[in-house]
Amino acid sequence: MKILGIETSCDETAAAVVEDGRWLRSNVIASQFHLHAQHGGVVPEVAARHHLEVILQVIDEALLDAKTSWSELAAAAVTAGPGLAGPLLVGVNTAKALAYAHDVALLGVNHLEAHLYANWLEVDGREYVIPELPALGLIVSGGHTDLILMRGHGDYERIGRTRDDAAGEAFDKAARMLGLGFPGGPAIERTARDASSASGDVKPSLRLPRAWLKGTDDFSFSGLKTAVLHTVRGETGPPPPSEEIAAAFQTSVVDVLTKKTVEAAVREGVRSILLSGGVAANTPLRETLVARSPLPVHAPPPVLCTDNGAMIAACAHYRFEALAAGPDLDPQPGMKFAHV
Ligand SMILES: Nc1ncnc2c1ncn2[C@@H]1O[C@H](COP(=O)(O)OP(=O)(O)OP(=O)(O)O)[C@@H](O)[C@H]1O
Ligand SMILES: [Mg+2]
Repeated sequence: MKILGIETSCDETAAAVVEDGRWLRSNVIASQFHLHAQHGGVVPEVAARHHLEVILQVIDEALLDAKTSWSELAAAAVTAGPGLAGPLLVGVNTAKALAYAHDVALLGVNHLEAHLYANWLEVDGREYVIPELPALGLIVSGGHTDLILMRGHGDYERIGRTRDDAAGEAFDKAARMLGLGFPGGPAIERTARDASSASGDVKPSLRLPRAWLKGTDDFSFSGLKTAVLHTVRGETGPPPPSEEIAAAFQTSVVDVLTKKTVEAAVREGVRSILLSGGVAANTPLRETLVARSPLPVHAPPPVLCTDNGAMIAACAHYRFEALAAGPDLDPQPGMKFAHV
């Protein structure tokens, strides 16, 4: 069964064809970050207009790459939320119109649930193991830092969340303070790598704070963000080079995310850990989680960590009946996941 997945919730216009919820037949991603870089963040109206300009071309390319025609598709699945209203509207209405015109099923997918399902995708050359359930999912993205207990397909409980900034948002803001550009995650990772290769020591001498929020599975990154600001401004002493601040920031985020995730996974007695969302592309985060976890850790290849259509299609495959939608499917910018 082949499903077309469409994603437009933020600043990636993406479409992909996935077979049986697992085999990636195509994966087209048109990123708009160059349009938003000058503003240091995504401008919703600009994003929506650009989605509209390229979405049909992106979908055509995904079908062409997959050598798949509409008549071979079981469904068109689209992100219904959460996300930016204008961008979501473009994706949802395009999927609705195409599904109707080609007489295929329409499925409305939750973007966060889909991030978890990137772990079910098989990509060329990757050693592939289907995640064992129950699992603990750590969704670390631009808008979320959630710990999700996944008991089965469609059976979730959010046991932890960020109380302020999301991890990705903290990466983006710290990068901005350091003048490293947007998106901040990859820029911080690159800069921190320069620091460690220059000093030959992975551990930066500068130590920034960690918010443990003991007794809870919640996270907080606003204190760390403020500490970066004070350090950059030289309020705590002569400001260290930006590579060192970037490295200390990254180490702090990785330390908290990995320790708290492993602790919760062991306590809940799950069988695996699912890393997902844009920040999951971060190599130190992936490596540290694997090193610290007594359980198998699954992490999608970096290109499937950030927003893509393949994860939407994979999620739709496993949740086909539950996600079936009709012509009244509407974008839901504030769509909830795993909590009330
Ligand atoms: N290598 C990396 N290291 C750290 N962070 C990264 C890396 N690559 C991307 N990111 C961060 O991932 C975020 C984007 O992730 P994603 O595309 O999943 O977010 P989003 O879709 O905007 O938010 P959400 O999924 O919560 O709706 C950005 O904040 C970006 O800085
Ligand atoms: Mg996302």
